[in-house]
Amino acid sequence: MSSTVTAERTAHSYSGSLYLLPSDEQERERLLKQHQLYTRLFSGRLIFPPVSLSENAEILDIGTGAGAWLCDARSQIPESVQLYGVDIESRLFPSYSATSPNIHLSIGSSISLPSYWSSKFELVHQRLLICAYTREQWFKVVDEMYRVLAPGGYVQLIEIGPEWRSGAKTAKHMLFLDDFFGRKGLMMRCTVYLADILKSAGFVDVRAEEVTMNLGKWAGQDGIEGRDYTIGAWRGMRDAVVKAGGMGYFATGEEFDKAMDGVEEEWDTIEGTHTQVRVVYGRKP
Ligand SMILES: C[S@@+](CC[C@H](N)C(=O)[O-])C[C@H]1O[C@@H](n2cnc3c(N)ncnc32)[C@H](O)[C@@H]1O
Repeated sequence: MSSTVTAERTAHSYSGSLYLLPSDEQERERLLKQHQLYTRLFSGRLIFPPVSLSENAEILDIGTGAGAWLCDARSQIPESVQLYGVDIESRLFPSYSATSPNIHLSIGSSISLPSYWSSKFELVHQRLLICAYTREQWFKVVDEMYRVLAPGGYVQLIEIGPEWRSGAKTAKHMLFLDDFFGRKGLMMRCTVYLADILKSAGFVDVRAEEVTMNLGKWAGQDGIEGRDYTIGAWRGMRDAVVKAGGMGYFATGEEFDKAMDGVEEEWDTIEGTHTQVRVVYGRKP
């Protein structure tokens, strides 16, 4: 990716949200490419639980962003299935949604989904909301997922982490991220807790699957892409970090960018640098 100092990015405009990443064209492109990589890492699988969708099923993608998963999922489900996407920000939505009559996108927060959605969906999917929810909100959102699922329906959550194995610069940045997330109440290591959160909401048959995501040039094309999309998210936190005063770790945005350059270089040179992508799913009885 780039090793240049980045310009200020555009943030979401949803009042009260802690969400840390930008919401602009650069982020849209990152999300679309990242979706392709994640799909490859999971050998083309987009739906993990053993759900057999009925002809008039409805499915929901929470925090749909650029709608990459939602649009791609159409190729793996019956044509008649209705797909809903919700996000706090519409700027990233796919423009072609208007021409796809079975895709319905709306602005809203997962923390309080529409009351008339109770027991509506056969599948609820959510990917990469790690930068959005406090611990309490994770519980609230999973309760909301339970409410909007029809009995027998499945939820699937996909998140990154919990380890970022590399060298000293990465370890130092992880200390910062744990502190930064922790002070906001966000959960940098959310993957560790997802299965328990699902169980405590009442989900049964809770299962997890995980792949290793290699990061850096040493791991070929997948490593380069894993590096770009992951460091792209880390770099995207710059404005939020600067707004928080750098928390004693970074005096300026330029210092933050330089630290990210160092991490990126480390990933390229330290063989074995990796994190995980974990899917956790469960059924509403
Ligand atoms: C990192 S992006 C992931 C997008 C998409 N799920 C994917 O995997 O490509 C996270 C998305 O969640 C959205 N988001 C953050 N907080 C949210 C909330 N409380 N409710 C709904 N969407 C939210 C953001 O606006 C952003 O589009």
